Amino acid sequence: MSTHTTQTEARAVVEFDQINEFEQAEHPTIKGLPRGRQSMGATLLGGEQGFPWLRVRDHVDRLARLISLNFGLVRLLAGWAPNCASYDLKTELPRLMYEDMRHLVRLNERFNQLPGSGRGIEASDELKDFLNRLGAADDHHCFLAGFYFEVKRTLLIALEDYLHACDPLYDAPTIYELRGIIPEVREQIDWANTALLESRLDLATGRRVREWRSYVRALLAEIGGIFGNEPRPAAPPPVSPACAPLQPAPEHFIGDPQMQYMDHFPFDQEEAPVHLTLREIVYHNATEWAAVDHLCVLFFGARNMPLEFYLDLARHTWDECRHSRMGMRRLRELGFDPFRDFKWPYHPKRTQDFAEWFGSLTMLAEACSFTRKHGSVEPFYRFGDALSAQQSEIDCLDERLHVTFGRHWYPVMARQAGDNRPLRELVTSLREKSILARQFRAEELTDAEKLAIAQSATAFCNAIEFDLDFTVY
Ligand SMILES: [Fe+2]
Ligand SMILES: [Fe+2]
Ligand SMILES: [Fe+2]
Repeated sequence: MSTHTTQTEARAVVEFDQINEFEQAEHPTIKGLPRGRQSMGATLLGGEQGFPWLRVRDHVDRLARLISLNFGLVRLLAGWAPNCASYDLKTELPRLMYEDMRHLVRLNERFNQLPGSGRGIEASDELKDFLNRLGAADDHHCFLAGFYFEVKRTLLIALEDYLHACDPLYDAPTIYELRGIIPEVREQIDWANTALLESRLDLATGRRVREWRSYVRALLAEIGGIFGNEPRPAAPPPVSPACAPLQPAPEHFIGDPQMQYMDHFPFDQEEAPVHLTLREIVYHNATEWAAVDHLCVLFFGARNMPLEFYLDLARHTWDECRHSRMGMRRLRELGFDPFRDFKWPYHPKRTQDFAEWFGSLTMLAEACSFTRKHGSVEPFYRFGDALSAQQSEIDCLDERLHVTFGRHWYPVMARQAGDNRPLRELVTSLREKSILARQFRAEELTDAEKLAIAQSATAFCNAIEFDLDFTVY
């Protein structure tokens, strides 16, 4: 029985691999069938055009364009997060990036079911030029207004037109995906309308935004609209109204002017009033926003990685935002004004080595955080603070996922940078590098002692752990 199944399975694999060959083969026994016919995607293409329905080739063209444009857009959005001088924007944009990635996954799955579809998600040269110019705005007011009110709104209309052009039976699987995506794109634009209200309440900013939006409309016309099939203007390309344009994934990040920053975790209660108490864990959650700019720059900068990598990275970034926002919410509930009462660790500078940075975040910082985060759950319950206990539990749940992402993607990133060592070795050298660079206040350690500690994950995590006191609420 099992041998029979195996043979059937083996035959199925062979047949699957040969589908293309069968499709293009001659079928001499069928009367009237022309010999040497063309591939499915190319049938009749040389002949009559303008059918009142969408042919398979049309879907392939549309989906390919949507995928490469949307991927270029979500990368650009990620690259702009560090230019947003606003805690709220930095911690809300990654949710939209995650949504965009889910849309891309849906479109890409449908695309891969069609014949003749490529597998690439990178933007074409024409789109690259469009994206470069779209990303050279003066500030986040202009960039986000152009992005949501011009590009995304035009995209929304194009998706609706596409949906209406689909046949309810022929194209039902495509319709299903579009129906899921369209309302979320509409909600994104509504979100931007609220989030960017302040841009409209300042006269000078409002004027600059208006000029930038009209420039973005001209850029869209230049590429023939979302699908590239609209007539392009004969006029020369528009000139950018930006005076001192910023770039995506900048070397220096812009923080929220309402927050006070420092280059370390708090040393005393002046810097964080909950220092050396159990509630410091809530503050630790609130600080997690500081990883967002770095993760976004990685999202923008990482090339030639599979779609799943960007999906995981968007989820990771969104989680850091959720953790920070739940930390801020709890600090407020505990009677603090987080921006007034606390200082915030922030390194607003782009890293030189993405692979090492990502490896250190996931395989050291996040992997070591479980003892303290999970360890805080019981003490919180003991002190009657069930809400903070719940928060720590949720945090651990997500951080576990991030360590999984690290295990999966860090070796892939390292390989891309020419480092073929297995994960275990990569992580040991991250620990060695990290511990050698540290000063230990309590005791003086020789380099040999430090290197010995780095050989064990537990010893390493114990050595680098924060000073904490869970006996004091
Ligand atoms: Fe985190
Ligand atoms: Fe977290
Ligand atoms: Fe994390």
